[in-house]
Amino acid sequence: MTVLAICSGKGGVGKTTVSVNLAVALSRFGRVLVIDSDIALPNMHTFFGLDDPFISLLDALKDLAYLDESIYEIKIKVSEEDVVHKHVLSVLPASTSVKALEEIDIENFKEVLDNVKNKFDFIIVDVAAGLSKYAIIPMLNSDIVYLVVNPEKASILDSQKVKKVAEVSGIKVNGVIINRYRGEKDIAEYAENAIGEELVGIIRESKLIRNCWNRGIPVTMKKPDSKVSEDFMNLALKIIGKDIPVKPYGKLKYLFG
Ligand SMILES: Nc1ncnc2c1ncn2[C@@H]1O[C@H](COP(=O)(O)OP(=O)(O)OP(=O)(O)O)[C@@H](O)[C@H]1O
Ligand SMILES: [Mg+2]
Repeated sequence: MTVLAICSGKGGVGKTTVSVNLAVALSRFGRVLVIDSDIALPNMHTFFGLDDPFISLLDALKDLAYLDESIYEIKIKVSEEDVVHKHVLSVLPASTSVKALEEIDIENFKEVLDNVKNKFDFIIVDVAAGLSKYAIIPMLNSDIVYLVVNPEKASILDSQKVKKVAEVSGIKVNGVIINRYRGEKDIAEYAENAIGEELVGIIRESKLIRNCWNRGIPVTMKKPDSKVSEDFMNLALKIIGKDIPVKPYGKLKYLFG
């Protein structure tokens, strides 16, 4: 069982998008749970079209007796030529209740993880931006920490700082994911050198991401054959140890790919 934390310095770079779609892609290879640990500003439930959940991670953090009830099962059906793959993805969302937030104890996150660990092969944790205790505790309890960046120098330099500060808290960063790639020249090399970690995935900019989100279904479920879903599948393959080269492609390939 592996716990993967999806993190970033600044907000809005695509952590929730990556967490959700990576979870869908990985669910082909094992039992997957994706957790919304961004308890101050949770929104993962909206990617799955779940109405603001009544029972959620907030309840499980207060009382473990709620844990089973706070995990939702999403049925995934992907057709590949003549074969239809069916599997289940488990989602542990957080609710947006301000009252619940006031009483929350993030220190109990480890206990929540300990209680679900043996039921899953992969647990993906969507972590809050920055390095507050709400981000640090989930990161400290993960096996692998990935930083999501956008293909801009400012975003990459910001992650460089986050990595350094995270290390002071005992957190080791294991890799970088570039999201919203549009064929920027040399950006992959720049990111790897600046952050000093392996590039594990490149996810292109795609209008499908927002279209599918508006429909309450991740792009990897709604449009599994799209190029952007292929990017998420390559990231999943890389994570399960397949020898997938993470190569940037040029602007033309991006536009016509
Ligand atoms: N590859 C992509 N192509 C196009 N749009 C994207 C892509 N990835 C993310 N977005 C858009 O960027 C916005 C932010 O994405 P997301 O909510 O996943 O970021 P986040 O890092 O989780 O944000 P926060 O820090 O607020 O939790 C959303 O509107 C989303 O649709
Ligand atoms: Mg988010």
